[in-house]
Amino acid sequence: MLSSWILFAMANIITLLFFIPFIDEDLLALTRNHRVVIFHRVLSLRHKLLPFLYPESVKMDADSIALHELISLYDPQLDLGDDITNNDIEEFRYHSKRMLTALFPAKSSSCLVQYHTLQYNTNQVHMYYIQHEQIDNWKCSNQPLILYFHGGGFVFGDIDTYSCFECHLSKFLNMLILHVDFRLIPEYSLEETIEDVINIYKILLDIDSNIHRRLIGMGDSSGGMLWIYLLQWIISNNKPIPQGVILHSPWPNLEYFDRIDRIPMDNYLSLTLAYNLRKLAIGKDTYWFDVTDEQLSKISPNDDLFEGFPSLYITAGTNEISIDAIRNMTKKIRSAGVEVILDEGEGLMHTYALFHMWSPQSRYVQEKIRQWIQEKLLVEM
Ligand SMILES: *[C@@H]1O[C@H](CO)[C@@H](O)[C@H](O)[C@H]1NC(C)=O
Repeated sequence: MLSSWILFAMANIITLLFFIPFIDEDLLALTRNHRVVIFHRVLSLRHKLLPFLYPESVKMDADSIALHELISLYDPQLDLGDDITNNDIEEFRYHSKRMLTALFPAKSSSCLVQYHTLQYNTNQVHMYYIQHEQIDNWKCSNQPLILYFHGGGFVFGDIDTYSCFECHLSKFLNMLILHVDFRLIPEYSLEETIEDVINIYKILLDIDSNIHRRLIGMGDSSGGMLWIYLLQWIISNNKPIPQGVILHSPWPNLEYFDRIDRIPMDNYLSLTLAYNLRKLAIGKDTYWFDVTDEQLSKISPNDDLFEGFPSLYITAGTNEISIDAIRNMTKKIRSAGVEVILDEGEGLMHTYALFHMWSPQSRYVQEKIRQWIQEKLLVEM
């Protein structure tokens, strides 16, 4: 134990001394946070030179292990106390933003982000249009688009944070991204968040009743849960479904946390954090076991209603607390006759597929998703 600690410390010192001058200039140019790049290189190099320090991860590449460790370094900060005050919420938002913006690429100057409000009857939904170089007029063109529901446990995930990833996505896929700036808890209720995503779907269909033919859905984490909820709403209301939906580490529903029986290895979304986020989602003063089925059906997807879903591409890390629940859900979706791919990141954590700068597994899965989207859109166009 002690000897591996000394080796660990020595390896880090050696790498720091010798390798900092050789850190990838391209990566430095892509990020705003040089400290993160250096940490990642050091950790990664340690695994290349001393793979025996981490024997249980034989199937992982050094960069991916380093990503996992990099995120673990932020762990003490990404949490919410038991008795959540407004101040805790502010701090939580601040830290999660700092962490995510360090891991997402810096926004390139050719990326455009435009704010819009869209109206459905008396309801307004706040939106951002994000695209590389020029913003397509999606209302009257045949351009394909991505409707993105961001993660953040319904509590955080603002445009400044997510547009970094979405700008990359837009350029990489050569598509317009519609970012839904839905209302967040605890200032609003989860029902209001869900109302926003349902309204935006109604608005899209009102503007172009054939829009589903050029529409791809994407969401991560709690944003994935919003997509699952919306798909069940779409089907029960006989609306047309999108061409395909990509879910990065989706929360299957609000209930699954109670069935998690693995030792959490994921410091990014820990079980305590997940519980505290759920507490906020149902209302601080509500006791989870007092929530009735009817109340739950307004804020959480049914875990057995997948018939009629579009093709799904799901990504999840094998180290995340939700992996069993995601595997279970995938089986149920498949047995409902839906085409679904589950792409697991070996040894990786929650929403690994968003962090292409730090892990070859993430770059590879993004490339596969790009091809998958092209296939789905070809069928219709
Ligand atoms: C997954 O399914 C198994 C078998 O049905 C069940 O025992 C387990 O509790 C489920 N896990 C989660 C997290 O839903």
